[in-house]
Amino acid sequence: TWQYSLRPKRLDEYIGQDKAKENLAIFIKAAVSRGEALDHVLLYGPPGLGKTTLASIIANELGVNFRVTSGPAIERSGDLAALLTNLTEKDVLFIDEIHRLSHSVEEVLYSAMEDYALDIIIGKGPSARSIRLDIAPFTLIGATTRIGALASPLRDRFGVISRLEYYEPEALVYIIKRSAEILNIKIEDRGAAEIARRSRGTPRVANRLLKRVRDFAQIKGDGVITDEIADRSLAMLEVDKAGLDNIDRRMLMTMIEKFGGGPVGVETLAAAISEERDTIEDVYEPYLLQLGFINRTPRGRVVTTLGYKHMNIDMPNNGGQQE
Ligand code: ADE
Repeated sequence: TWQYSLRPKRLDEYIGQDKAKENLAIFIKAAVSRGEALDHVLLYGPPGLGKTTLASIIANELGVNFRVTSGPAIERSGDLAALLTNLTEKDVLFIDEIHRLSHSVEEVLYSAMEDYALDIIIGKGPSARSIRLDIAPFTLIGATTRIGALASPLRDRFGVISRLEYYEPEALVYIIKRSAEILNIKIEDRGAAEIARRSRGTPRVANRLLKRVRDFAQIKGDGVITDEIADRSLAMLEVDKAGLDNIDRRMLMTMIEKFGGGPVGVETLAAAISEERDTIEDVYEPYLLQLGFINRTPRGRVVTTLGYKHMNIDMPNNGGQQE
């Protein structure tokens, strides 16, 4: 599909994440020249930063098959055994949301990662025995939004651990222009910059906003995305100047109006705004932290001076709040 075609296929087409990219290029080259499978790789960071894209690029650069699954999709250890025994030598197995693997599946993964072997239990009760089955050397690429939720024996089995960062607006401008070219969208530099500034450092968001702004440009303008068209359409989409959406703003407003700016626990906050705790922790909180609009304290989240300023509300002078 076209969505797939927005994804770069080679490392040198992949914009941003320079540190991760630079290191991976070396590890890939070294593994290829030794003729070995690449060591297992863990990619972590907020959603939408290109973990799946990067994994598919790694497989492509290694010249091997790319098999995709996710933590919640692997229900039983037999499901994982089926995947692993179907790999050919040096293939990449990508497990998205790897922090959501069940404990019994994780156990099977340990020997697979470490020894390229599966320990399979045959039979039940006193006559049960375990046999060891060799599998082809492979590369596991795990992706997670929360490295803290990963069991340490699992985390310790990754030879490469790479954190993806929010993109700078300049990098997002490149990504937006590249996508615009692929999708045949006319966009001015200042139009791209406006979308980039309001994409919360996230290529997935940038590409989505690009498509929506194009719709506005087509219907309300002459088809070209200018900064003015971008600004007007993003306002209609309720994406503010800092890239915050309704839910971000509702979260800040609730913290301010119902909890005096905090500290408030994530569970309490989730209930107050009727959102999932996980979504708050994985999606909303990281970007608000990055902008410096909220802070985490031992007693919960607080709205900062910057956060109040953004919401156009005077910060109460209560002195009790920690920043
Ligand atoms: N599309 C999504 N992420 C990208 C990236 N990092 N570089 C180029 N295109 C992308």
